[in-house]
Amino acid sequence: MIRMNGVVKRFSQQTVLSDVTFCVQKQEIFGLLGPSGAGKTTIINILTNQLQADGGSHGIDAAASETGLMLDEDGLYTRLSCVENLNVFADIYAIPRKKSLEALESVGLADAAKKPVNKLSRGMRQRLALARAILHSPKILFLDEPTSGLDPAAARGIHKLIHNLRDSGATVFLTTHNMDEAVKLCDNVALLHKGRIVEHGAPAEICERHSAMKTSPDLESVFIILTGVELE
Ligand SMILES: Nc1ncnc2c1ncn2[C@@H]1O[C@H](COP(=O)(O)OP(=O)(O)O)[C@@H](O)[C@H]1O
Ligand SMILES: [Mg+2]
Repeated sequence: MIRMNGVVKRFSQQTVLSDVTFCVQKQEIFGLLGPSGAGKTTIINILTNQLQADGGSHGIDAAASETGLMLDEDGLYTRLSCVENLNVFADIYAIPRKKSLEALESVGLADAAKKPVNKLSRGMRQRLALARAILHSPKILFLDEPTSGLDPAAARGIHKLIHNLRDSGATVFLTTHNMDEAVKLCDNVALLHKGRIVEHGAPAEICERHSAMKTSPDLESVFIILTGVELE
């Protein structure tokens, strides 16, 4: 559903992506894992055609209207209520407004439908951003650090939603710098360090591959073995 082949990206003199290659199958939850500045958001921006690559090729098996995007900057209207925010989006994309309430229900925000965004907790706001991303039932969902800054309970809520979306047919591409999250949530991950993929595969497979270096390593220690630096 998603592929990148030898992608290179530069910002003036700085090369921020070097030879990035991976693919994501239908109904997979794929996690791009790397510390801040590794190039995760740049990859999402290239895949969603918001940025142009300087080399290599990439593609997704969905039209722009069939993709959902949740970025760090949520772009919600803070004085409008939850349901009003979704209605604005529904009107732009010609989606029936009843979908707004359905989406709020699916993220557990039905009771807060009339609350203005500036009265929401961070967790609720993230769930609203997710509701907006799934309003049009996208085939592919791009989530840039969907649980950053959330407490464990709120993060678990988002994890459950992501699993449900996959089970109903979506392919999910997410970024995170949280190893636990990647292991719990993702079928496959790619470890990104300074714009290069240093390892990829199923989390358990990756750990197994490096078990000669350390007994029963976790992803965190594999990352340290490969890069010499810690994730956060
Ligand atoms: N518009 C931009 N102009 C110049 N440099 C940028 C721009 N966007 C990102 N960068 C740089 O590219 C690198 C990767 O950034 P980013 O993709 O945001 O990383 P991540 O999302 O993994 O934290 C960083 O060094 C960042 O400073
Ligand atoms: Mg980022």
